[in-house]
Amino acid sequence: MSNIFEADDSSTPLSEEEKPDLKQKWITTREELNEFEAKGIFEAQVWLLTHKANILNTRFLQKLHKKMFANVWKWAGKFRVTEKNIGIAPYLISSELKNLYDDVAYWIENKTYKPYEIALRFHHKLVHIHPFPNGNGRISRIMADLIMKRLNEKEFDWGEGSLIEISKLRKNYINALRKAASGDYSELLEFIN
Ligand SMILES: Nc1ncnc2c1ncn2[C@@H]1O[C@H](COP(=O)(O)OP(=O)(O)OP(=O)(O)O)[C@@H](O)[C@H]1O
Ligand SMILES: [Mg+2]
Repeated sequence: MSNIFEADDSSTPLSEEEKPDLKQKWITTREELNEFEAKGIFEAQVWLLTHKANILNTRFLQKLHKKMFANVWKWAGKFRVTEKNIGIAPYLISSELKNLYDDVAYWIENKTYKPYEIALRFHHKLVHIHPFPNGNGRISRIMADLIMKRLNEKEFDWGEGSLIEISKLRKNYINALRKAASGDYSELLEFIN
């Protein structure tokens, strides 16, 4: 059993300012947190089934994060204001997200990459920016799936459950993300295929 405020597996530890904002005070272990968060994420996914408006803007990202995590965190839907071991400086989040959304619109319009590569590049850049204090991995995987869906492609198979838990699969996924940071997307492409 691991404590929710320790990061031992490439998840981002919560900082002191973020801790009091846990709405469910009884939660102490990562397993309890994951399980409780999964409820909100499931409800968000049900909402997504009927959501037809544009998904490629920061407003939608914040709305989706709020839907996913509002039952657990007071800062759901709000951007990070603290530094993390992953992610860019907090004050750059808004402008970098804007660049990313401009890029992805351009890639789609000009067919710069194949649809799955567009979705994966978006996924990687979004976890790299790390807009929120927590939930970045999960929201970025959902966003990649949404992009695939909007491009009329099959959603990815992330092996979701075991990606959240500490596992070999997660280790491979994080290693593939690390490689993507140097511009080599081959392992990440292999990972979802
Ligand atoms: N070295 C890295 N480079 C890029 N991205 C990384 C790296 N390490 C972790 N990540 C990403 O950050 C995520 C963890 O961030 P965070 O804890 O905010 O998200 P999460 O949704 O709570 O995590 P998860 O669902 O993966 O447990 C990982 O799932 C992965 O997508
Ligand atoms: Mg996390």
